[in-house]
Amino acid sequence: MKKSIKIGLCTGILCWIILSCIADNHPVGFVAENVIFATEQYATQLNELTDRGENHIPRTIKSDGTMVYASTAGWDWTAGFYAGSLWYLYELTGDEHWKSLAERYTALLEKVQYNKSTHDVGFIIGCSYLNGIRLGGEEQYKSIIVSAAQSLSTRFRPAAGVIQSWNVHSGWQAKRGWKCPVIIDNLMNLELLFEATRMSGDSTYYRIAVSHADKTLQNHFRSDGSSFHVVDYDGETGEVRSRCTAQGYSDESAWARGQAWAIYGYTMCYRYTQNLAYLKQAEKVCDFIFTHSNMPDDLVPYWDYDAINIPHEPRDVSAAAITASALYELSGYTRKEQYRKTADLILKSLSSPAYRSPLGMNGGFLLMHSVGSIPHGSEVDVPLVYADYYFLEALKRKRDMEK
Ligand code: GLY
Repeated sequence: MKKSIKIGLCTGILCWIILSCIADNHPVGFVAENVIFATEQYATQLNELTDRGENHIPRTIKSDGTMVYASTAGWDWTAGFYAGSLWYLYELTGDEHWKSLAERYTALLEKVQYNKSTHDVGFIIGCSYLNGIRLGGEEQYKSIIVSAAQSLSTRFRPAAGVIQSWNVHSGWQAKRGWKCPVIIDNLMNLELLFEATRMSGDSTYYRIAVSHADKTLQNHFRSDGSSFHVVDYDGETGEVRSRCTAQGYSDESAWARGQAWAIYGYTMCYRYTQNLAYLKQAEKVCDFIFTHSNMPDDLVPYWDYDAINIPHEPRDVSAAAITASALYELSGYTRKEQYRKTADLILKSLSSPAYRSPLGMNGGFLLMHSVGSIPHGSEVDVPLVYADYYFLEALKRKRDMEK
């Protein structure tokens, strides 16, 4: 297995370098150079994974450098990103070797389709199976996607018009006394529902997605355009009980990744609905972050725009990568060149030595300096599998726009 990985990768990389240089008519372009790096870096990570002789999904590394793996049991929201990154490497290189790896890591997630105990089924199945079906994966992926959408739909609370994010009787936020918490991140799960309607013809999923997006528009944003992290609803009456945070600096602060989810989420919702209110909200959040006095010059935000010790606070590379990817799509819908240029600047920062790992270091992850949850002291200033995923997606979107 190890030998075949190396041979496949070397052949693929070499062919791809030659072809891209001919096509681009210059030595090696920005995207091409990053993709070459990504294939080499992931090859080192894969060698470590196959040394273990099992199918382990990388998530991050500990401070001593040891790998932390994502669980495939269904509760780990990060489990689909690695398969998704492998699909993007296949798309970016055309090398079948990446496709077979992507298929293998996607198949590990099959049982997640039945998980009704988390909204994250949208993240997990979306990044893996949705990318897979788009890129010629097996036909049976469709039934897995629709089945996952059915599971996600069981979390819809009709009186409130939203999908419940976290459980309230168990899990990491069970002690908060919430009834029906919805986090801004949950917008990202709607793509699974939109796609399930497209594939199955059943409009139920679409209607749930639109209801959730509309209610979030109504209740999740401040007048300055920034998003709260959590809105707790009463699932029976539909009333808003509180607006607060779990991963941000404070209830009133603007958690950086939350703003990124909002920009990406509403841009994606516009893709399926053409509802201009969604596009406008994505732009409002952009206005908020890109005019914020605490946004650094290199456009890689601190983990929260209101964190108390800025500039001595950790950056969150994952928020920057999500935003860059979203901005490429947003620039297409709004025809605003500024968004594309901003995305280019973010990618330039991320691929600089300040944020991109030296080859063979950083546990084989592409990017350094992300943050999972500072209030929980968890995953602070580390590589994160989802930062890599959105970085690769942004590179793919940049390449497609330049074609
Ligand atoms: N969706 C979880 C997070 O952004 O940390």
